[in-house]
Amino acid sequence: MKAIILGVAGQDGQYLAELLLSKGYQTIGVARRSSQPRNYLIPLLHKGLELIEGDVTDAHCMNSIISKYKPDLLFNLAAMSHVHTSFSSPSSTFEINTISIINILEAIRTLSPTTRLYQASTSEMFGKNFTEKNGEKYQDEDTALLPQSPYGISKLAAHQAVRLYRESYGLFACAGILFNHESERRGENFVTRKITKYVGQLAVAMQKEPFYPAVGHPIEDFPKLKLGNLNAYRDWSHAEDMVTAMVMMLEADKPNDYVVGSGETYSVEQFVDAAFKEIGLNWKDYVEIDQALIRPAEVDYLRANPEKIKRELGWQPKLDFEGLVKRMVKYDTERAALKSSLYERV
Ligand code: GDD
Repeated sequence: MKAIILGVAGQDGQYLAELLLSKGYQTIGVARRSSQPRNYLIPLLHKGLELIEGDVTDAHCMNSIISKYKPDLLFNLAAMSHVHTSFSSPSSTFEINTISIINILEAIRTLSPTTRLYQASTSEMFGKNFTEKNGEKYQDEDTALLPQSPYGISKLAAHQAVRLYRESYGLFACAGILFNHESERRGENFVTRKITKYVGQLAVAMQKEPFYPAVGHPIEDFPKLKLGNLNAYRDWSHAEDMVTAMVMMLEADKPNDYVVGSGETYSVEQFVDAAFKEIGLNWKDYVEIDQALIRPAEVDYLRANPEKIKRELGWQPKLDFEGLVKRMVKYDTERAALKSSLYERV
């Protein structure tokens, strides 16, 4: 069995490649050309990942990859995934997130109609909407979609395209409506990783008084952590749990869309608090609000109701919020310590 991952270089692409390889799939990872070496993919190459260059915004490129490999499974994780950035780059966001899926769907429809497609949809599509029932607030597959960002709108259009091609042409095409998912491989401009990276550096700086060379600031002059809105609520999971759901969807008997998340919600402030508590500090002494990080529109409350995927596919997350924060802080503390010790040796 053959699987292609579009966007293999990102957090989810890496975890997904690991999972598919461990399940015995021939796994082909597609990443955009980069002038920087992606050394972090070397362990995956050793495990058997075949890495090729490709761009989802180019229809010719999608046609040639899909006609050459005719994969059993194809995962589209390639995206401009930063919500705030989509406000300053709305056109390219649409090109990367929306035009791309039309290229992919058309290539599958005309060249490899038995290929099963996974599309990375997102809880950002719910925007301001939630369902309120029996005193609980959540989003599920029936909650109306009302995105609050160019990113959310671009993903909603892609989501609808996947549904249309499934219904009109009978393609095995699924969309996973994934809530926030994080990890030690998360990009450093997403809020969780930005926080844990800072906390890790702070933890090491405290041990190395009066000067910590890898950070470049003495502890008494440590720069503040600048954040935006601390009052938004998110449903945070570990990315490893999420890629398991992606594979379950494509290995199922029939194609369907599913909401995937932990079912719990915490504010950004609660994440900050939990991360600082890991190193025994009060976040209020280190965090500063920066108005430039406040978005023109915000999604205030996200909490998944993952009942359908649990019932129909048997999905269960392994790591909870507390475990996620602990794992990320531990990783970033060890990383900061390693950088510091390497620096001292040269
Ligand atoms: N990035 C960032 N940086 N966000 C901040 C900051 C900051 O300094 N300060 C506060 N926030 C708030 C944002 O305003 C938002 O409410 C929340 O932290 C989470 O922001 P992100 O981590 O950037 O994630 P996101 O929720 O906007 O989007 C992520 O989740 C979506 C699924 O719901 C991304 O992974 C999307 O690609 C994904 O679709």
